[in-house]
Amino acid sequence: MTKILIIIGLFFSLGIFGVMQFPSAKYTDHYPGDPGVADPVENYKNYCASCHGELMEAFVDRKWKYGTDKKSLTHAINTGYPNDGMPGFDTTFTETEVNELVDYIYDGLKNLNRFDFASQTKQETSWAGNGMNIQLETVIGGLKSPWGLAFLPNNDILFTEKAGQLYRLSKQNKLHNISGVPEVNPDGQGGLMDVILHPEYRKNKVIYLSYSKPKKENDKTVSTTAILRAVLENDQLIRQKIIFEAYPYTSTRHHYGSRMVFGDDGYLYFSVGDRGNHNQYPQDLQYDPGKIHRINEDGSVPSDNPFVNTENARPTIFSFGHRNPQGLVKHPETGEIWSHEHGPRGGDEINLVQKGKNYGWPVISYGINYNGTTFTDKTSMPGMEEPLLYWVPSIGPSGMTFVNSNKYKKWNGNILSGSLRFKYLNMSKVEGHKVTDEAILFENIGRLRDVKMGNDGYIYISVENPGTIYRLKTKEIKKASP
Ligand code: HEC
Repeated sequence: MTKILIIIGLFFSLGIFGVMQFPSAKYTDHYPGDPGVADPVENYKNYCASCHGELMEAFVDRKWKYGTDKKSLTHAINTGYPNDGMPGFDTTFTETEVNELVDYIYDGLKNLNRFDFASQTKQETSWAGNGMNIQLETVIGGLKSPWGLAFLPNNDILFTEKAGQLYRLSKQNKLHNISGVPEVNPDGQGGLMDVILHPEYRKNKVIYLSYSKPKKENDKTVSTTAILRAVLENDQLIRQKIIFEAYPYTSTRHHYGSRMVFGDDGYLYFSVGDRGNHNQYPQDLQYDPGKIHRINEDGSVPSDNPFVNTENARPTIFSFGHRNPQGLVKHPETGEIWSHEHGPRGGDEINLVQKGKNYGWPVISYGINYNGTTFTDKTSMPGMEEPLLYWVPSIGPSGMTFVNSNKYKKWNGNILSGSLRFKYLNMSKVEGHKVTDEAILFENIGRLRDVKMGNDGYIYISVENPGTIYRLKTKEIKKASP
């Protein structure tokens, strides 16, 4: 097992480069290069980077699914692959622009700007880094896409691989495959996603898995977000029960949501994304997608859920008007539920999730369509909640935690979120219900999928391609332990 201790400094940003916008701030247009006039570099940045990454080189270096000849590229850009979550751009670009973009990708540079451990130096000048020296320790490498992390009482790590495996990494750094994992549809954004423990895990050994469940065995035609409750015993999942299946199943393969957290009230909260159908689902209480739900630990419906008495409403709905929440956490002091979610192009949000409230998607938003057209000019409306923070451009937030440990005193109470798009760890400074500052950590570390506090008080992050789990150690700790 790799156990390389890499000492690095803490990365920071003095300016925030337009990453952070507060709802009260005036909305300015962050999209230079209006549709129809830009060069391919500009077009890639404005129309493709939010999903395929800032670096065209990194995009080119991907594992290709549909072919890399010019014809396939042209087809992908014009028509898209709607069921995979790839929008079509035929109404956005001129033919010349499409051809230039195809050439640009085709001739794509090969040099990846990967996170460079060796050359990064210590930076202690930002509010986030002041006086802190963080060491990034590789807990395990060689993975593909470690999606969800959970910690057993003895601090063994349970983690999911998106493709459909669940592992336990023991303290001796031995990897154990957990058997009995449900079949998933791993296409697109689907797969085996979050994993959490029951609040009384010590007594009952119960865990929860969220995943993209195919409707029929070995048939990927339609799938949905589902939650499995099971007992973990001898590295097996026994006494399994599917306690939630979002209605309806759909043929799209994105926006599953799927982050889970237990509240202090003992209820299980979890997200279901809009499944790519924002016109139908998020504002309609008859459907599960585009919502945060709340259930009892056994899957039954709490009698005090907000819509249990609303005709035709799905009774598990706790809040609605969400797009694709990939972060859901409990505030360590107040017990409040906080979340973040992906906006379209711009408009990722951090929200305080409250019972029965409407978070506005897609009626109010700070984002625009991927193809540059607008779908709303409203960022507020009576009866709709505004975010505590929004990001323009989108960072693609995944994984979320409040820092709550004496090992990082200066960070306590702040929110950490992974950025899939920019490949860094984002820190949001929190004061009460306000996010007052932001910092960028570990720039270019990789598509950052999950971030959690371990039982040992350390922060753990997981990144994709190559899949790696890191532990963030502080210098002081290293000195103290031989
Ligand atoms: C909303 C997110 C999103 C945006 C924006 C987007 N794509 Fe995609 N794209 C996807 C997804 C999802 C796929 C499906 C393949 C996959 O799962 O990676 C895809 C697939 C592709 C493919 C086929 C890749 C393959 O594996 O064969 C090409 C080429 C492509 N996109 C180019 C572009 C270009 C060029 C732009 C900008 C004009 C763009 N995309 C914008 C999400 C996006």
